[in-house]
Amino acid sequence: ASTLGASAAAKGRYFGTAVAAGHLGESAYASTLDTEFTAVTPENEMKWDAVEATRNSFNFASADQIVAHAQGKNMKVRGHTLVWYSQLPGWVGGLSAADLRTAMNNHITQVMTHYKGKIYAWDVVNEAFQDGGSGARRSSPFQDKLGNGYIEEAFRTARSVDPNAKLCYNDYNTDGQNAKSNAVYAMVKDFKQRGVPIDCVGFQSHFNSASPVPSDYRANLQRFADLGVDVQITELDIEGSGSAQATSYTDVVNACLAVTRCTGITVWGITDKYSWRSSGTPLLFDGNYGKKAAYTAVLTALGGS
Ligand code: G3I
Repeated sequence: ASTLGASAAAKGRYFGTAVAAGHLGESAYASTLDTEFTAVTPENEMKWDAVEATRNSFNFASADQIVAHAQGKNMKVRGHTLVWYSQLPGWVGGLSAADLRTAMNNHITQVMTHYKGKIYAWDVVNEAFQDGGSGARRSSPFQDKLGNGYIEEAFRTARSVDPNAKLCYNDYNTDGQNAKSNAVYAMVKDFKQRGVPIDCVGFQSHFNSASPVPSDYRANLQRFADLGVDVQITELDIEGSGSAQATSYTDVVNACLAVTRCTGITVWGITDKYSWRSSGTPLLFDGNYGKKAAYTAVLTALGGS
């Protein structure tokens, strides 16, 4: 096949990208999206501050634009994200524990109900663990007021709302085996043992020279898959350029293809010009939508040409 999406499909996987609603009107952006990708993740539009800036007043306009576009092109949608410490409106942090629990479950229920039947996988909880060697949970209104049990509660609520959506835990710096990924692993293992509903783990995979593709990436994906969950590469981008960047992209694709339960790869944007790494060139298309060496490397690794 001659596109990323079709080549990944031939391997039984999707190939997705983060999308910003504000760029869909740019013809080169939309045509590259429609030609190359089979899945989308709204980059910001489904986050708490975007959909519920005011308590119990929901605005889905921007996210709906992306979902409608994706549905029109038969693309999967990854929902990102329901419970996260960041991009959280100020009112959430001011609630009492009891009120926060109600607000969290209401947020999950309202958002998932709005998109019921349209979402392939939800990042139910995002980035709940600290970096570094402690393996501890990250401080957030949820963690600090509700304790460790908020994650389980979020997944149980999510399952009750849309039983057909895959429910994922998503994080970064968990791509190799380290204290942080060990802590996530222990949580997922515990959830599976106790029947807490979880279907998938997302590995964001934001790589740069300080944090390159780990040598045990495949082994780490495999150990999670062996717990009985799907694994997905959810926010891939790799700083750099030329053949070094291309080689790293090849390593990532090969790792996913080597793990049967790695169901797809999402890159965190289409073109370098709109990357969240404003000064970098971490994506597959340059600022003029030209295909980079990294693009060719990914296409080739997926078996396309
Ligand atoms: O929409 C406002 C706009 O009204 C305002 O004028 C402008 C001025 O700063 O800000 C705009 O909001 C920005 C938003 O992106 C939309 O462009 C925020 O400032 C900016 O902080 C926000 O950045 C996003 C970041 O998450 C926030 O944490 C990035 O686009 C997005 O790529 C990034 O994505 C995260 C994933 O969700 C989770 N994993 C890490 C990943 C990279 O940081």
